[in-house]
Amino acid sequence: MEDTVKLIFEGKTYELPIVTGSEGEKAIDISNLRPMTGLITLDPGYANTGSCTSSITFMDGEKGILRYRGIPVEQLAEHSSFLETVYLLINGRLPTKAELNNMSVLFNDNSLVHEDMQIFYQNFPRASHPMGILSSMVNALRSFYPELQTLEEEINITVTRLLSKVRTMAAMSYKISRGHKVVYPRPDLKYCANFLNMMFDTPVKPYRIDEDLVRALDVFWILHADHEQNCSTSAVRLVGSGRVNLYAAISAGIAALWGPLHGGANQAVIEMLSDIQKDGGNYRRAIERAKDKKDPFRLMGFGHRVYKAYDPRARIMKKMCDKVLFKLKINDPLLDIAKELEEAALKDDYFTEYNLYPNIDFYSGIVLRAMGIPTNMFTVMFAIGRLPGWIAQWKESLDDPKWKLGRPRQIYIGPTQTDYIPIDQR
Ligand code: SDX
Repeated sequence: MEDTVKLIFEGKTYELPIVTGSEGEKAIDISNLRPMTGLITLDPGYANTGSCTSSITFMDGEKGILRYRGIPVEQLAEHSSFLETVYLLINGRLPTKAELNNMSVLFNDNSLVHEDMQIFYQNFPRASHPMGILSSMVNALRSFYPELQTLEEEINITVTRLLSKVRTMAAMSYKISRGHKVVYPRPDLKYCANFLNMMFDTPVKPYRIDEDLVRALDVFWILHADHEQNCSTSAVRLVGSGRVNLYAAISAGIAALWGPLHGGANQAVIEMLSDIQKDGGNYRRAIERAKDKKDPFRLMGFGHRVYKAYDPRARIMKKMCDKVLFKLKINDPLLDIAKELEEAALKDDYFTEYNLYPNIDFYSGIVLRAMGIPTNMFTVMFAIGRLPGWIAQWKESLDDPKWKLGRPRQIYIGPTQTDYIPIDQR
């Protein structure tokens, strides 16, 4: 089996090593390409470029496979909890009962947010987007929790604080945006139930915990927990490579996730389905627009850089739509439109030729709507789910002896040397 490739350039032959992963994936290691040949590679969007080796998540885009630390996401969605999946991603194995219980207690002990932070929330304009608020507030956490003595202590406490407080911060921005009293986390509620209670409990109508909804949120966050080197995870790794504190690196990840081509797609899908509904349910017009190269419109929630098959998470999310809507006795016309749109698109040559299938964002908004989550908080929900993945990937980069400051090169195509012209001669 070849473990090198040959490159012939300007009459010279160079040998470059091949790296083979545990699932047989292969890469050309170009770590020494420039010193050896003077060449760099060029790959806009990094579609053909690996940034690291990783043991956290495996995806096979052609087969629609997704595994966290080797465990298929379908099994985790069926049998695990979000907290157990958090432990798996960050520590590399499933926890014992005692370890899981200890993590749950730590999260409860660290779920409060410094009262002074509420003043920050109060001063954001009411119409501020919750993703902008979350990114700012996560960055602000460093000001309230300065660096600890040892790196290990710093990492463990910061990770706990982030994972626990992110729920409280998200719910706070929702309550304050509505001018409602902030609801504090309760020590008697577990992770997901606590979040729903902080979101929807009110002095006039106490929130009734619905175990089916709690389970749906558990699964929702399991499905979002990691996805190897996507845009926002790469942002966390790149910003983290400068050895800035974790709060700042995660804040960068939240900002990267916000975009409609990435995590912001779940909000864009609901807006698209609502527009189709206003257009008399004419989903065929949306399909024609998506195919028209002169029209910038894209079918939101469809297509993926890696998956060229059905996103396994979308399959689970679609089933969850039926389950949650049935349980809540909700008939959401947007779900019917989504299903008709999917069926028509998957029969259309354009989508099959480009291997465009529903991704996780296509159905996730329907579930969140049914839970009562406002549309502008959908990507915040994605961010809470992805936080353990960002943290696991950041920690892995710290432990990687090959990891160094991220600094890509470029090919310059601007003007060659020109002289300065004094202003009175221009
Ligand atoms: C997430 O990376 C991750 O893992 C991300 C994520 C995660 O968990 O972290 O999975 C979460 O971000 C999912 C993706 C959510 N975004 C959307 O649903 C937005 C709609 N999707 C597209 O914008 C697009 O599919 C991307 C951005 C997701 C991927 O695009 P690529 O890989 O850059 O592919 P491309 O844009 O080069 O598309 C190839 C062709 C193009 O046609 P040509 O210009 O070559 O003729 O397919 C077309 C595109 O126009 N195409 C679409 C389309 N997606 C791609 N045409 C219509 N509708 C679409 N949705």
